[in-house]
Amino acid sequence: MDKENIITLAIESSCDETSAAVLRGGRQVLSNIISTQIPIHQKFGGVVPEIASRKHIVNIMPVIDEALRKAEIELKDINQVAVTYGPGLVGALLVGVSAAKSLAFSLDVPLIGVNHLEGHIFANFLSNPDLKPPFMALVVSGGHTSLVHVKDYNNFSLMGQTRDDAAGEAFDKVARVMGLPYPGGPQIDKLAKEGNPHAIDFPKALQDKGNYEFSFSGLKSAVLNYLNSMKLKGIEINKADVAASFQNTVIEVLIGKALDAVAETKCDTLVLAGGVAANSSLEARLRAAAEKKGINFCYPDKILCTDNAAMIGCRGYYQSLAGKKSDLYLNAVPSLALQDVE
Ligand code: KG4
Ligand code: ZN
Repeated sequence: MDKENIITLAIESSCDETSAAVLRGGRQVLSNIISTQIPIHQKFGGVVPEIASRKHIVNIMPVIDEALRKAEIELKDINQVAVTYGPGLVGALLVGVSAAKSLAFSLDVPLIGVNHLEGHIFANFLSNPDLKPPFMALVVSGGHTSLVHVKDYNNFSLMGQTRDDAAGEAFDKVARVMGLPYPGGPQIDKLAKEGNPHAIDFPKALQDKGNYEFSFSGLKSAVLNYLNSMKLKGIEINKADVAASFQNTVIEVLIGKALDAVAETKCDTLVLAGGVAANSSLEARLRAAAEKKGINFCYPDKILCTDNAAMIGCRGYYQSLAGKKSDLYLNAVPSLALQDVE
């Protein structure tokens, strides 16, 4: 079959979004349906895993039906099924993996298990049709912060990742103590626009040259200590200044390490990926810093930054071209890491 006409059904259910997408070839998205549970989890201040699993069970078939209907594709037209099998919440992942296995088995088509974080990187191929490896990818999501040297579609080398809290996790925790609703990242982003990014000097970790690991737990604690000490002294804080200074510190760390990694690997392109990529200031400043050094900068459309099945379909497509398929014993792997792939 002509590879440009391969129809992939993709499924994503790793956290609080149930999503299904249909792709023709690797990059043409025929549909990308995302059903978010954010309003359900908001009243608890974060994702409740048990509730997430139950909602995925309720949503998964209607979301798949909607993706097929919107793509004007019938079940018999599907050539392969791609699904996120990790990292994520085990109960949530199992819903998508079980649905994908059942469909692949009953349609007698290949099953492709996809690493969610690789999916985030591949979202860039959907938004940037001319993008080709090699490039450096900065992955900044709720649970992970990593720098990945993408040498080819199926050849990656991990430059470094977070030792403790991911950037998104730090955004969410700082927002929570400031009384902002979940998820905190977009709230801090909004509030930071009204604040002074240089008002408070927060610490940056692991700043030695050539160190591509990240650590955001010290920064998170510094913000919490600042808020507590101001409260004890009875000094009213300027929330916008705290948000702007915290966000500025995260962004400066990300930009510094990403540009160093590009220089070390002599890449000419930098791509941004993951939920935190939706941060308006991160995208604008990283783009400006990259372009100043003559580096091409790519970034996914906002809808493809957050969790979605289209990016999983794109990753699955390139895996299947390389023969990297799964069998029906595929299981959820909650702590699946980004690793070197050759
Ligand atoms: O990639 P993602 O959708 O889920 C994971 O795979 O983890 O990322 C979700 C994270 C959350 O921590 C959320 O607060 C953060 O992305 N986020 C943002 C923004 N939009 C979402 N962080 C900063 N600024 C934003 N505009
Ligand atoms: Zn994600």
